[in-house]
Amino acid sequence: MKTALVTGGGGFIGAHLVSRLKREGFWVRAVDLKYPDFSETDADDFVIGDLRDQAVCSRVIDRRFDEVYQLAADMGGAGYIFTGEHDADVMHNSATINLNMVDACLKRNIKHVFYSSSACMYPAYNQEDPNNPNCAEDSAYPAAPDSEYGWEKLFSERLYLAFNRNHNMECRVARYHNIFGPQGTWEGGKEKAPAAICRKVAEAQGGGDIEIWGDGNQTRSFLYIDECLEGTTRLLRSPYNGPFNVGSDEMVTINQLVDMVSHIAGKKLHKNHIPGPLGVRGRNSDNRLIAETLGWKPSSPLVKGLEKTYAWVEEQVRRKRGENQPSTK
Ligand code: NAD
Ligand code: GDD
Repeated sequence: MKTALVTGGGGFIGAHLVSRLKREGFWVRAVDLKYPDFSETDADDFVIGDLRDQAVCSRVIDRRFDEVYQLAADMGGAGYIFTGEHDADVMHNSATINLNMVDACLKRNIKHVFYSSSACMYPAYNQEDPNNPNCAEDSAYPAAPDSEYGWEKLFSERLYLAFNRNHNMECRVARYHNIFGPQGTWEGGKEKAPAAICRKVAEAQGGGDIEIWGDGNQTRSFLYIDECLEGTTRLLRSPYNGPFNVGSDEMVTINQLVDMVSHIAGKKLHKNHIPGPLGVRGRNSDNRLIAETLGWKPSSPLVKGLEKTYAWVEEQVRRKRGENQPSTK
């Protein structure tokens, strides 16, 4: 039986990945500071541990896993990474995890390690025009990410690729572009725009107001979790190191995102644009390289993923209010 290790297996992407690997027939160990927030884990073995501790990394990597997915990081949406308040933690915590993990994998002679970098590593100067952002993989330098989170991702992707060059490892690097879906963080300050907008729409009365950070003309693309996992496993099992964008190329403004979610909810809402953490003005995944190299790219329309995500977030909102039945719209 093949074996896999998922670090960050109690997080959004990690918990979904564990379930997918179990469906594929793997024996799976997950490691995290916490269990998944919204479901029981499907892992065969779930270790609560802090990967900033080298001894924990060595202990959980007690065998030559066939596949290791390193997803653990100190991360969140714009409300977490662009305020500046968490910069020291984000850099120190995530870099320490990555330094420990790649070394522990090398010591066990593990070849196949997946690392989840982020589109936040791309230079801010290429993401100022909301209609024409440039996030081609080869546009990364001269480096100028707009957040410390992005700088740590850039450092760590270089770390894994350096271990490939010097130690014959086969680490794979993906640059995720805003992943969303059911069982993602939807409240509390770390939620990203899709979940935040779903929550705000679910909480709003038809005809009421919804608060949007900025003028809403900033652009993004959002990738549904199932396609993220498809790209992730395809990349790890491919002969290519990356970095590759793993993201959707269906770019929308945040105002369009709000309109799509409002339509799904059947609510007419007035957008109230307020100051907030904004990040780059425009971002979209450039999928030419992954399509040419892996012969695959994400293709599912944004609205399909939003329908599933809205249904799930709406249920969380209702549960929190103590309601059991769908509210009448
Ligand atoms: P998440 O926050 O839900 O999951 C990360 C997990 O890492 C959390 O469960 C957290 O508890 C765990 N963790 C943090 N510090 C740890 C430590 N010291 N020891 C053990 N576990 C620790 O985030 P996610 O959305 O599932 O993202 C997974 C990975 O993908 C992260 O590396 C993230 O930076 C990257 N990424 C995600 C997105 C996205 O849109 N979700 C975009 C770009 C990159
Ligand atoms: N989170 C959030 N909540 N964002 C909002 C809101 C809101 O209520 N209203 C408007 N926005 C805007 C933000 O200001 C930002 O301009 C845009 O929606 C997208 O915000 P996020 O989804 O929170 O983050 P991001 O796209 O800037 O960055 C995310 O994606 C990266 C990868 O592409 C983060 O998750 C990063 O951690 C990730 O690496």
